[in-house]
Amino acid sequence: MLRIKVGATSANLCVGFDVLGLALDLYNEFGFEPSDEFKFKGFKKEYLTIKNNMVYDAYTHVFKLLNKKPIPVLISFSGNIPVSRGLGSSSSLIVAGVFAANYFLGNPFDKDKLFDICANIEGHPDNVAPAVYGGLVASYKANGSFKPNFYNVSDKLKFMAIIPPFKISTHDAREVLPKELPYKDIVNNLSRIVNLPRAFNDGNIELLKELFDDKLHEPYRGKLIKGYDDIKKICNENGYAFSISGSGSTMLVIGYDYNILDKLEGFGYELVKLNPGQGVSLWVE
Ligand code: HSE
Repeated sequence: MLRIKVGATSANLCVGFDVLGLALDLYNEFGFEPSDEFKFKGFKKEYLTIKNNMVYDAYTHVFKLLNKKPIPVLISFSGNIPVSRGLGSSSSLIVAGVFAANYFLGNPFDKDKLFDICANIEGHPDNVAPAVYGGLVASYKANGSFKPNFYNVSDKLKFMAIIPPFKISTHDAREVLPKELPYKDIVNNLSRIVNLPRAFNDGNIELLKELFDDKLHEPYRGKLIKGYDDIKKICNENGYAFSISGSGSTMLVIGYDYNILDKLEGFGYELVKLNPGQGVSLWVE
């Protein structure tokens, strides 16, 4: 059986909307076994058919790219990444399906091409890039293909996720964004994202905190998250960098320690300590 492990991600990192993402050490695991027909095990009830399973969609998409008939498999799933919380659960499904298809097709594509296929399925690269490569990744599109660049994250930095019990779909979180923005807001973000890799590399929280000031999406999406303003204020006043993780509802906090978690308990949200994570891994059992 082919087994695939794919990690959670925190996309955007505040000012890197649709560009930047960080892999986190929370993983989903998948199994793929040749079968007489497509079957699903371990998924929630609503994802147990080919009509509504993103791993299946991604898997068959790769076969279609090569005009090949998909090899039927039993797909099993066991997951730790919360769904629709801005931690890249959908990208983990896409990455697993695409990499499994590549394996059963005899590895026609290299990792960079597989990343490009995943990003095209997802529509933006900032979740799938860290899910594929691990660590901190910035992506761009040139000549129709998504391409990654990798940046260092200092060991000094401690990562925490504040995970509310409510879901926010990426679709809904994109719907609340304005269709146009003033130049000054774009310049605000450009000036910050270009300096962000330095802050991650040096593990400089003061710099991270100043750079984590987004004008493209967080002012609009914060309203979807109960307690967002208060939580942000508590984190910032205590010296921690704060942002929405992906399109929410999870919030990402970065500091030199985990002490802030005591001050956040009153919100009743799940508080999780995390580390930068690995990229996708495959093995055969
Ligand atoms: N960059 C995306 C967004 C990430 O913020 O909408 C969510 O998948």
